[in-house]
Amino acid sequence: MRRMFIFILPILIIVATGFTIFGIVQVRAEEEKLMDELKRKAKAVAESMELSVQSVLTTQNKRNADYLVERFQTRDRLQGCAIYDAEGEIVAITARFSDWESKDKPYLADVIKNKVPRSGMEQFKDYTVYSYVLPVLKEDGTALGSVEIIYDTSYVLSRLTEIWKSISVTLIALFFFIVLSSVIIFRQMFLLPVLRLTDWFKGFLKGEGDHRHPLRDEDELGKLANEVEQVALSLRVARRSIVQDAQKQLNIEDVWTEDKLRSYVQAKLGVRTMLVVSNREPYMHMADAVTGKERCIRPASGVVTAIGPLLHALGGTWIAHGAGDADRKFVNSKDKIGVPPEDNRYILRRVWLTKEEEEEYYYGFSNEGLWPLCHITHTRPIFNEKDWDTYQKVNQKFADAVIQELPSGPAFVFIQDYHFTLLPAMIKAKRPDVVVALFWHIPWPNPEVFSVCPYQKQILNGMLACDLIGFHVQYHCNNFLDTANRLLECRVNTEKFSIVRGKQETLVRAFPISIALPSAEETVSEEVLVKVREEYKLEGKIVAVGVDRVDYTKGIGERILAIDRFLEKHPDYKKKFVFVQIGAPSRTHIKRYHDLGGEIDELVEKVNWKHSDGDYKPIIYIKRHLATEEIAPFYALADMCIVSSLHDGMNLVAKEYVAAKQDGKGVLLLSCFTGAIREFTDAIAINPYATEEFADAIYTAVVMPDEEKRHRMAAMRKIVQENNVYRWAGSIVTELSGLGKHNHEKPSA
Ligand code: F6P
Repeated sequence: MRRMFIFILPILIIVATGFTIFGIVQVRAEEEKLMDELKRKAKAVAESMELSVQSVLTTQNKRNADYLVERFQTRDRLQGCAIYDAEGEIVAITARFSDWESKDKPYLADVIKNKVPRSGMEQFKDYTVYSYVLPVLKEDGTALGSVEIIYDTSYVLSRLTEIWKSISVTLIALFFFIVLSSVIIFRQMFLLPVLRLTDWFKGFLKGEGDHRHPLRDEDELGKLANEVEQVALSLRVARRSIVQDAQKQLNIEDVWTEDKLRSYVQAKLGVRTMLVVSNREPYMHMADAVTGKERCIRPASGVVTAIGPLLHALGGTWIAHGAGDADRKFVNSKDKIGVPPEDNRYILRRVWLTKEEEEEYYYGFSNEGLWPLCHITHTRPIFNEKDWDTYQKVNQKFADAVIQELPSGPAFVFIQDYHFTLLPAMIKAKRPDVVVALFWHIPWPNPEVFSVCPYQKQILNGMLACDLIGFHVQYHCNNFLDTANRLLECRVNTEKFSIVRGKQETLVRAFPISIALPSAEETVSEEVLVKVREEYKLEGKIVAVGVDRVDYTKGIGERILAIDRFLEKHPDYKKKFVFVQIGAPSRTHIKRYHDLGGEIDELVEKVNWKHSDGDYKPIIYIKRHLATEEIAPFYALADMCIVSSLHDGMNLVAKEYVAAKQDGKGVLLLSCFTGAIREFTDAIAINPYATEEFADAIYTAVVMPDEEKRHRMAAMRKIVQENNVYRWAGSIVTELSGLGKHNHEKPSA
């Protein structure tokens, strides 16, 4: 109310002042006009009487003089006329002005003497009157006397009062109109939007409502709402963390947990904003192709599996490509959304790419160039200038987003993977004070292989702006150090395992990535297991499972060939052995992946036809993206899990399977070309290229005594429990906390 008063008062003052000035000007003009009229009229009347007065004064005819002045008696308005002789004595006067006779009139002598007319305002009783005196002369020019016309001026005043009255009435009506319209405008344009925003803000903090504020205008209020929206999101995320902080376990356990990591990070890094950058986003909104209904999925990705729990524990902002076809619908005005959707723990900032950018940066340079280059699986890397140009542009686009999100204080930017080799240098160019680390989720090849990349120097230069670069295994670290040493001018410090260029030192470390163990609530119920067994006819069968993105590096074809060979060698397992392959379609836009899809379909068809018996088929191929909770029953049911990557940085499916086998009744067949094989020495190691050995390994798993299975699985489960993703993040933080000592430009950790 007070604000409204403050808003309206100046308007009213301006309008009132305007009207007063207008009134004064108008009244003055009217007064001048009326007085002019009156003067002209008095002069004209006096002049029209001049001859008659001359005659009555010459003839001294009193009767005629009385007749002349009495004509004024009949007029409505108070008017009169007096005729004077040369001495100023009254000859005749209108009766209603008889008292005028006694009035002192010094001006009469001047009129006679100077023989010029005189006019002026005089007081008569309660009236102010106008007097006009005209000298009456003889033919020879001597004065005979004078005639005076007297007009009452009070009607001028009445007229002016009327004008003031009408101005006042208009002003009051205008005041009323202004107040009313201001109240309506104020309410519609300011009060209601603010109330709507307040309701949205309160609801959003409580976890109700969506991520977009209700004001869609681009004006100042809209801009304010955009800012409020960001604050609301940060508050919502921060609130959850504070609640978690309050509940944190202060006792230091051996097993790393979310809480332990949170306390550790706070102790080591202090209050430092954490930004994660990856190409793949942790949550993707997709519209169903048939129903159009939108749903939120967690993409099949090692990055998502590992980094998700980290941000869940620590909060912060994750910047990633918004690749879901319904993604734009769920972000706020700054392209942000709180995730997980049902329990906002951190902020996802989506970066939009054009089709062309996606084509050239993601499909082209990243996945047709760097991916095969680093995996060395006999798929030729393709490099071309256009893809490279776009790769640089997209890195810059993400760098801009990072700079935008960075606070002015200390921050830690954690970049993921080969999509962003140039990003570290771009960030450091603008913000040398922030700590930048990059984790490389895929293998790093030896210098000979890497040197085929035409942009090798730019890539290494970009990466070496990092304070820390992490790989899954020491072997990849060594390859990277060799590559930098061979292809760049730099000093490799083999004691510290770092690369020094000028003032910049980059630590290179192995951090074997891991997963978060599933919680008790995630244990698959017996009811779900029964349902899955029934649906896929798995009852009484030996079940093997494979879970992969459909990628040529995963060795899915090699796996099927090994199963074929196993059934050839051990036909008595037909109808007893079933292999379930869950394959999430991936990068299908690339010809090699498209072809691979066809090759696997064909192979499954061929092997199934070959070993089919009645309604028995040895391979069940589930060719779609499955959510974590949909995959869980297959892990739980499977007697073995086959991971046969031709080359893999780590492979988290192996770890997921081990984590899921609570009863210990399962065998892991693991490719010797994965990073995971270095930790899982109790897995059955396989060479996916050696079909015969691979088939025998399947047989070994099938006939392995339960006791041995349990023994091996227990050893692997211990590794996953101890070296979970929280410990992985803890190790990175330990390295980062030492960085302040290396570089004085950075705030101490
Ligand atoms: O783990 C390696 C990786 O390339 C990740 O970067 C990525 O999240 C995952 O594989 C899945 O690939 P994409 O994101 O291309 O579907």
